[in-house]
Amino acid sequence: MKQPKRVIHVVGARPNYMKVAPLMREMGRHPDNWRQTLVHTGQHYDYRMSQVFFEDLGMPQPDVYLGVGSGSHAEQYARVLQSFEPVLKQQQPDWVIVVGDVNSTLACALAAAQTHIRVAHVEAGLRSFDRTMPEEINRVLTDHASDLLFTTEPSGNRNLANEGIPAEKVRFVGNTMIDTLATLLPRADDKRILRELLLCPAPNGNGEGKPIKIRPYTLVTLHRPQNVDDASALGEILGALERVAEDVPVLFPVHPRTRKRIEENHLSVHPERVRLLEPLGYMDFLTLMRYSGLVITDSGGIQEETTYLGVPCLTVRPNTERPITIELGTNRLIQRESSAILLAAQDALCTNLRTHRGIPPLWDGRAAQRIVEHLGRA
Ligand code: UD1
Repeated sequence: MKQPKRVIHVVGARPNYMKVAPLMREMGRHPDNWRQTLVHTGQHYDYRMSQVFFEDLGMPQPDVYLGVGSGSHAEQYARVLQSFEPVLKQQQPDWVIVVGDVNSTLACALAAAQTHIRVAHVEAGLRSFDRTMPEEINRVLTDHASDLLFTTEPSGNRNLANEGIPAEKVRFVGNTMIDTLATLLPRADDKRILRELLLCPAPNGNGEGKPIKIRPYTLVTLHRPQNVDDASALGEILGALERVAEDVPVLFPVHPRTRKRIEENHLSVHPERVRLLEPLGYMDFLTLMRYSGLVITDSGGIQEETTYLGVPCLTVRPNTERPITIELGTNRLIQRESSAILLAAQDALCTNLRTHRGIPPLWDGRAAQRIVEHLGRA
């Protein structure tokens, strides 16, 4: 009888969960073929940065929790390497599957490669060509430690070819994060969060069957060290958000790194205009994103999600590793100067950019299915 293949999935930080959930679901449909173990490194550990996603995405609880916590890059890599190696030795999986570009991704890929266990990297080949971003180092090194590389957009295949990675190792499959979005979008329509934030009327005042009116608003996320670790850069961006908020309310779920920097540097914003919120769960954030007039961010994944949704997105960065979101989508890069942000935001809010230029190829909700088929044959 054919033995099931044993795989370890790795999650560590917030953007990992939505990429892994569809893979686990797809493998779970074929229990005779796959035996799955979920390892959580514990890089992110707060309820709002971790547990809430398991609930929203219907993911099983991790089988193994490494509890590495926060620290410098070196500390995080070292703790993951040290604590993941015994798991590999004990479980001897056929594959370790890592996703994205966080510190946990690289550390687990490296531990597996050194133990001669095959590594599959989901979301391979993305390049910002900016080595000051910790994620760029993670992307390059993870790809070079991997045996099978799954790309989300054609630029990924070009970048890997330019780095000498053989085409036989690379498969263009689409985007598992978009699989999650496409599956959950119909349910991201509970208007409770919009009502709580006074962005749409309470149900009774609404009248049966009438479409509800949602106030225009801007949704913001920021956490990149380049934008938030430097007090003057962060102050500049917050100043711009206050000015954007003179036209439409600004909602800003604040990442723990950013919250710390705001507090340490005694920065503040007008609380009625720029609403600083706790980090949100997946469903609440998706609801806010789909109905927003504009998103301002420095996240990687949100550039892709807004592209899929056709929501205008301004990315406060000098570069992006996801060029398809600029070519086909609604994304624009902007400088962090206050006047540049304000002008771009006003432009985006008045010239309705919601015109969709298209959804990138293979972002069709079936990336996980393709990945599992490839892994099954490998
Ligand atoms: C990490 C990833 C980044 C990803 C982001 C999404 C790396 C190098 N960076 O950045 O690619 O886009 O996650 O969120 O892996 N903290 C908490 N509670 C938590 C998690 C973190 O308070 O649950 C604090 C930590 O103590 C630390 C700070 O937030 O001071 C930053 O966390 P860290 O994991 O180092 O990197 P992120 O900025 O979250």
